[in-house]
Amino acid sequence: MMRKKIVAGNWKMNMSPAKAVALIGTLKDKINVTDVDVVVCPPYVALPAVLEAVKGTNIQVGAQNMYFEESGAYTGEIAPDMLVELGVKYVIIGHSERRQYFAETDVTVNKKVKKAIEHKLVPILCVGESLEEREQGITIDLVRLQTKVALKDVAAEDAKGVVIAYEPIWAIGTGRTATSAQAEEVCKAIREVVAEIYSQEVADAVRVQYGGSVNGANANELFNMGNIDGGLVGGASLKEEFVSIVNY
Ligand code: 13P
Repeated sequence: MMRKKIVAGNWKMNMSPAKAVALIGTLKDKINVTDVDVVVCPPYVALPAVLEAVKGTNIQVGAQNMYFEESGAYTGEIAPDMLVELGVKYVIIGHSERRQYFAETDVTVNKKVKKAIEHKLVPILCVGESLEEREQGITIDLVRLQTKVALKDVAAEDAKGVVIAYEPIWAIGTGRTATSAQAEEVCKAIREVVAEIYSQEVADAVRVQYGGSVNGANANELFNMGNIDGGLVGGASLKEEFVSIVNY
């Protein structure tokens, strides 16, 4: 089973619309791969400008979050339809920063995954353990649980299209990348739990990314592991280095 690799840049709370357009200008001529899905995820307010700037390129666009209701009195939130209308194709769900600073839980993550699928947005579902949890030896148990709850009541055919990003919290923004063996171990466990919930066919279709201090120097080794289908990139996606990650 050949899974298409997917490399996504999570710009987090960086890049105004003007800066975002400038960054796309730097990247677009250098990104011409067709065998890798390339996605950038700007802040909401930069989405329209970025969608315009990537026209005619292979770069696709995702949001960093969305709410799980259709519309209504949810001050400050963004509805799935709003993203769809703009032309957004992907949405990051349950990033550890959202879990940590904005009180997202496995249950709200599950609601968002289901809502994204309902609107034909591809969820990039984030899972991963803290350093304390790794040291306690519960990484695999925890990531299995996060994955199971996030995919609760998601149909097999829909689950095939979900992208799961394994991001160990201790590796995010720290320069301390997981070794390719550590990353592979957990990505493999994620694929195994998907096989348990659904089938081997679904597990073989699901794409599992690694995220956490991915850079131009380590992308090749990580993305060549058997169960790692690309990466979710933070800091290094804000500069030209993203090109060398995409062209790993
Ligand atoms: P860094 O690549 O900056 O470690 O961030 C990873 C991340 O959180 C991507 O979602």
